[in-house]
Amino acid sequence: MKLIVLGAPGSGKGTQAKFITQLYQIPQVSTGDLLRDAVKRENALGVKAKEYMNTGNLVPDAIVLELLKIRLMKDDCSKGFILDGYPRNITQADELAKITEIDQVINISVDHGLLVKRITGRRTCKECGAIYHIEYQPPSQEGICDKCSGELFQREDDTEETVKNRLNTYDKQTKPLIEYYSSQNLLQTLISDGTIEEMRQKVKLLLENRFH
Ligand code: AP5
Repeated sequence: MKLIVLGAPGSGKGTQAKFITQLYQIPQVSTGDLLRDAVKRENALGVKAKEYMNTGNLVPDAIVLELLKIRLMKDDCSKGFILDGYPRNITQADELAKITEIDQVINISVDHGLLVKRITGRRTCKECGAIYHIEYQPPSQEGICDKCSGELFQREDDTEETVKNRLNTYDKQTKPLIEYYSSQNLLQTLISDGTIEEMRQKVKLLLENRFH
């Protein structure tokens, strides 16, 4: 099962990708996480990527493609994967088509007005990457991960200013992928106007109908 989760920043791609991972035992491959890992390690690639990420722009295609190829070659991707955050533009989609086929694209559609609040309230576990929201999905103990007791942090690019640019970048460069994958009959759109749990049920139903 080779899936893409498409959607604007803060739409819930990561949250739903983690849910699908549990349902189908396939890994979440997040280019955002791969890039943040490179930034943390402060290697040459990470230093370069940080400039783009902290201003809300896309990291150059060649850098991201290289990271993605290495990740997809790992054993755990042999039975499938969920791509979260890739592709981000038509060039990346064309490059992806050269390395693998895709079975289904899930497009998460959210009113832009809701996204800033979702993003600025997000907290992520430093240890296991679990995603929380201070209002919509709070941990039992403030600042501490329920799953592994790791420390929760706020991403550097989750400021209101950067979010505006991330949304612009999405509208200009990523949104055209909806038409790109629709025209290949690969895309289904789910409207995310309810809770995380309601969205999980929609995702589950879509995948059950598609793969059983
Ligand atoms: P990336 O890490 O991919 O970030 P993004 O696309 O901006 O998406 P987010 O991670 O912000 O949001 P999400 O949709 O995963 O939402 P989440 O589930 O966390 O990319 C970061 C940067 O890296 C980019 O700006 C770019 O610079 C670079 N980059 C990455 N990939 C690249 C590529 N392919 N090419 C070039 N550059 C690339 O949910 C958000 C919050 O909302 C959470 O707190 C969650 O709890 C909450 N929430 C989720 N669903 C709901 C709901 N239904 N109701 C209420 N709250 C909800």
